[in-house]
Amino acid sequence: MTEKIIILDFGSQTTQLIGRRVRELNTYCEIIPYNKMPLDDPSVIGVILSGSPFSVYDEKAFKLNLDTIRGRYPILGICYGAQLIAYNNGGTVEPANSREYGRANLSFIDSSDPLLKGIEPGAQVWMSHGDTITSIPAGFHTIASTDKVPVAAYRADGEPLWGVQFHPEVYHSTCGTQLLRNFVVDICHSHQTWSAASFIETTVAALKQQLGSDKVVLGLSGGVDSSVAAVLLNRAIGSNLTCIFVDHGMLRKDEFKNVLHDYECLGLNVIGVDASQKFFTELAGVTDPERKRKIIGKGFIDVFDEEAHKIKDVRWLAQGTIYPDCIESLSITGTTIKSHHNVGGLPEKMNLRLCEPLRLLFKDEVRAVGRELGMPDHLIKRHPFPGPGLAVRILGDITPEKVAVLQEADHIFIQGLRDWGLYDKVWQAGVILLPVQSVGVMGDERTYERAVALRAVTSTDAMTADWAHLPYEFLAKVSNDIINHVRGVNRVTYDISSKPPSTIEWE
Ligand code: XMP
Repeated sequence: MTEKIIILDFGSQTTQLIGRRVRELNTYCEIIPYNKMPLDDPSVIGVILSGSPFSVYDEKAFKLNLDTIRGRYPILGICYGAQLIAYNNGGTVEPANSREYGRANLSFIDSSDPLLKGIEPGAQVWMSHGDTITSIPAGFHTIASTDKVPVAAYRADGEPLWGVQFHPEVYHSTCGTQLLRNFVVDICHSHQTWSAASFIETTVAALKQQLGSDKVVLGLSGGVDSSVAAVLLNRAIGSNLTCIFVDHGMLRKDEFKNVLHDYECLGLNVIGVDASQKFFTELAGVTDPERKRKIIGKGFIDVFDEEAHKIKDVRWLAQGTIYPDCIESLSITGTTIKSHHNVGGLPEKMNLRLCEPLRLLFKDEVRAVGRELGMPDHLIKRHPFPGPGLAVRILGDITPEKVAVLQEADHIFIQGLRDWGLYDKVWQAGVILLPVQSVGVMGDERTYERAVALRAVTSTDAMTADWAHLPYEFLAKVSNDIINHVRGVNRVTYDISSKPPSTIEWE
């Protein structure tokens, strides 16, 4: 039985980060909506209450009957979680002055408290709250303060119940890792046995049990998640897994060939389907971005379904769904479930049972599992690439000729990033083919050709992104190489828009 920390989610943007920090302590954790505490799960060793966009006294605030968990497990409330515990026990929570945002330093620390072990006065924490605890309940005592926040952290007397108003999970709380370690390891007694290797061992055993000698089909995209899922399943059930890799014609230059080769080297039983002609025909003359997406999405499902039906007795559809795709995230308007943007429609159409071996992992853990499974770095560190591929990077209608032009320009940019050691420093990069032509001069000739935009962003989750500040010398070289080597392009621009308000892809 895997021991676990439960993180009750009250809707904060940093809830997932708490989860990642706990996992970094080699401890398994699950993020659960605040009102779905698994009270009958004997493997729970501690509970963390997250922050929230609400104030505790808001009518719509998410409420929790603390008595159901108090005394059963060690509890740590973070930000709203801390305010909720204090408020429910008779403390006072009031709007704070606006200075309780950003960096702060702990001026007072009760160093005898186990939560603060090893943390020195002056330690930096990150505050981000509109409310503050102005008086703590009877039977509680303050264990840390800052100049502006008297109750930065507190504890219930003689009980494993703590609250911190700062965010230990964010990078800027330099003592945050120590604090979480104190809670998870010393207080909750985690044995820290959760690792990529242990995950592989238990998951492979569980998959063998679950799937027996059933046949499984999996759609590969060339991306990290589906590739790692495939290698993991291959280890569990070998040739009973059939992978299908569809070329819709909008992949990067030589990607179909190269990725197929990688998969074969990994020992996967993989069928490559070149369906590019079908997609080019269906996309001819279509300019609306959403229609392009729909045509490609539907076409992909049709091709996949047709191929899968050629395999006898398939029972399961495997997918590389990962944890952020599944977490029920709480929005201010109610509970919403993030849609699986990378899997749209397939399960409904195919009427197969679903197998999702990575659904408990964060992205960095998927990479660690891939590495542990012996997958090559270039597969594991691959930039995200949208399902509809270059179709959403060609503005306007799509033709094979435009795809070929874009593939060449994109190849120069991506290879350049690799050659200059910049590939791993950006989250995602690619070239956009613009629907404009402009005048240029090459030799003595006047040209009237296409313009492309280079796009490279830094990000941690694609929800927000900044344009990558690539060196001018690099951009100059790429621009030169594209204009000199890609026929039909005579102008290169660099996209310096951040997300929001722009998006990463242009369409
Ligand atoms: P945007 O353009 O919304 O992209 O800032 C955020 C991330 O999602 C990827 N993306 C897609 N992935 N199907 C996908 O599988 C899509 O239709 C799609 N559109 C955008 C994008 O590449 C970026 O990583």
